[in-house]
Parts: sequence; structure tokens; C-alpha cells
Amino acid sequence: VGFVAEESALTDGNCTRDSSVEKFEIVFPGLPHKHCFVQYGRGLFERAAEFASSLVSGRARAVIVSDETIASYYGERLLSNLNKCNLSTELIIFPPGESNKTWETLGAVLRGLVEAKVGRDGFLIALGGGVTGDIGGLAAALHCRGIDWMQLPTTTLAMADSALGGKTAVNLAGGKNLAGAFHQPAAVFADLDTLATLPLRHFRAGLAEVVKTAVMLDGELFSQLESSPLELLEQDNSRLERALLACARLKAGVVTRDEREAGERALLNAGHTIGHALEAAASGLLLHGEAVAVGLVLECRLAEWITGFPPAGTQRMINLLQAIGLPTIPPEGIDAGRLAGLLGLDKKARRGMVRFALPADIGKPHVSGREYTSPVEIDKVMSLLGRMF
Ligand SMILES: NC(=O)c1ccc[n+]([C@@H]2O[C@H](COP(=O)([O-])OP(=O)(O)OC[C@H]3O[C@@H](n4cnc5c(N)ncnc54)[C@H](O)[C@@H]3O)[C@@H](O)[C@H]2O)c1
Repeated sequence: VGFVAEESALTDGNCTRDSSVEKFEIVFPGLPHKHCFVQYGRGLFERAAEFASSLVSGRARAVIVSDETIASYYGERLLSNLNKCNLSTELIIFPPGESNKTWETLGAVLRGLVEAKVGRDGFLIALGGGVTGDIGGLAAALHCRGIDWMQLPTTTLAMADSALGGKTAVNLAGGKNLAGAFHQPAAVFADLDTLATLPLRHFRAGLAEVVKTAVMLDGELFSQLESSPLELLEQDNSRLERALLACARLKAGVVTRDEREAGERALLNAGHTIGHALEAAASGLLLHGEAVAVGLVLECRLAEWITGFPPAGTQRMINLLQAIGLPTIPPEGIDAGRLAGLLGLDKKARRGMVRFALPADIGKPHVSGREYTSPVEIDKVMSLLGRMF
């Protein structure tokens, strides 16, 4: 514990567009071959294509993995940029949405990689949101026992969180993200121009991950979000850019210190333990980010009880999420018994206990010695939550 992400040049003033590009690099201590080059800015597709072609040697082939919606907006443009860089590339697409983050979709992507004759020296570019990044990254981890890949996130959620850190997964019938791998991307290029086409509901949902990062790791960021939450919804506002970049930097620091979630990285699961169970119990009614928003409020209530988190902090959380337009209570009709059962299926659940990453205060996680999560009996969680249904 204690290594900090190495950060390189911050600005690049070669031309006016580039002057707003922020760059840093994630370096994993003790693993010199593992680097992740990160860029946040606008008009980054050309750079992303140049970067990909610089990594791929000779006649090696590449694929873009994307869902149908994102591919319809950006697929051809990225393909043409890659072709200009002489990188032989094919596009593999799958139907959009969480319900398609499945083993079957993964199988189809893997077959596409074989058909495109991508070898061990090939390259995969995941163009899209968290679903595309999770499926594309897992395909990259499995194809030929692992090929290099990069992420071009196109949602607020992916830019704030999922594109960094190398967690990849698909859902199984038994639960969310149950089959997966850690496989670090070689680069993450977040082109904020792509947010212009993101539907507002998804745009807002992704901001739940920004709020999560702020409540756990950065009280100043939380206060900034509170001071003008509506500016976050303006997709070309610099406050949004700054917030997404702040989250990316905070996450980079955490995963550099704890790549495999042996400790500190678990802090980033705040809101997700209840959020994942709610997402499943709501059977498609809640987007991932919306479920995390409700999960954050409920876990703040738990924290009041377990870590002494101030009730005023929970109220600040509710106010901020509501100002962004996110839900703060579970949707009607959620069955409490089903929710309890789903909590018991959580990857971190053991013998009737679930582990929660909880805040001690706004911007300050509860950490006890080397323990970053607190075990709570599912029955106790349900008795507390029962009052909120
Ligand atoms: N790997 C991680 O570390 C990590 C972290 C957090 C969340 N996640 C996962 O992320 C997923 C949620 O990600 P998401 O919210 O980005 O969902 P998503 O990938 O499904 O994208 C949301 C929707 O918006 C569309 N879309 C995406 N970008 C667009 C754009 N620029 N213009 C128009 N439409 C666009 C997509 O087609 C999709 O319908 C969940 O499965 C969650 O488990 C992973």
C-alpha cells in the first residue's frame, strides 16, 4: 500500500483542440510492462487511432467491439481513422443494454475475433459504455489467452469509473459480474464529444459514480458538485469535464495501490452492494447508475448506524442526487425477501453477513486497521431497510 499513480505531462499545447486534453499514466509498481495511458478531452478519435496503430506491429489485425447504438454513431468514424493509420480493423457489434452483458454475447464476440483472424499480436478497442468495456475487456482477456486492448468510453459512467482499472465481466443467471477477469487496458481515451449523443437518463445515471467517488474519497469534489449540480448535466460544461477527470485520477490512484481489490479498491464499491441487489430485484426498471444512487442513500443510512456517518451527510447525499435527477428511494413493488436473497448472493457475502464499503464522513471512508469494508448481518440490513420500503 502507498504507491501513487505516476502522472506525466498534464497539457499538450500543440494545437487549440489539444490544449484541453488532460493526460496521465497509470503505472503498476513491480509490473513494469503494465502501463495504461489515459487521455481525457475532445476530438480524441484520431489520437486514439494513432495510439492503437503504434502498439500493433506489422500485419497484426484489430477489432472494434461496440454495441449497435454506439457503433451507429461512432463506429464508421473510428474505423476510418484506424484505416488511415493502416491498421486493418473490423467492427464487432452486439445488441445494447445490460440484458445483453451475457455469456452468449461474449461467445459471439469471441467468435468474431476468430473470424477476423485476430492473432495473439492483435488488438481490441472497446468503444462504448460500461457494458461494452466489460464485455470487450473480458473478450480481450480470453482471446488467445489475452491480447492487448484499449477503451474509448462514451458514457459518463464509463468515463467516471468503469473504463479504468481493468475489471471486466459478464453477468450469469446466478448474479451480476460473476464471470470476469482483471485485464488492464493499454490505454483509455475518453472523448467527451461523444457524450453529446448519450440519452439524458444514461447521462444522469453515470453521475452516480461521480457522487460515489466524491463521498468516499474527496469531500472538496462533493462540495463542488453540491454548489452547482445542474452544470454537471451540461455536456459541454467544464465542470463536468473536471468532475469526470477528478474521478478518473482518484480511481487511477486507488487501482495503482490495489489492483486486485485486496483492500483499498473495495472502497469504490460504495453504494454497489445494495445497488447490485436492487438492480437485479428491479428486473430492468433501474439502470445500473440509478440503482447505485439508491444504494448510496441506503448505505449512508447503514453508515449512520455503523460508522457514525452524520445524518446531515445522508441528507446532503439525498439533496445532491435529487438535484442531478437521480432516484433516492427504491422503486415501488420491490420484494424485500427477494432483495435479502440477492444480498446473500453478493460476491462478498459469507454466512449471512455482507461486507459494505461505508463512508465515515463526506469525503472520508471508514477504514479500520487494514479493513476497508464492514461486515453486517443481512437480517440487520433488512431490518433497517425494511423501514424505507
Ligand atoms: N468494470 C468496472 O469497473 C465497472 C464499474 C462500474 C460499472 N460497470 C458496469 O457498467 C455497466 C453500465 O455502464 P453504462 O451505464 O455505461 O451502460 P451501457 O454501456 O449499457 O450504455 C448505456 C446506454 O447508452 C448507449 N450509449 C452509450 N454511449 C452512447 C453515446 N455516446 N451516445 C448514444 N448512446 C450511447 C448504449 O448503447 C446503452 O444503450 C454495468 O454493467 C456495470 O456493471 C463496470
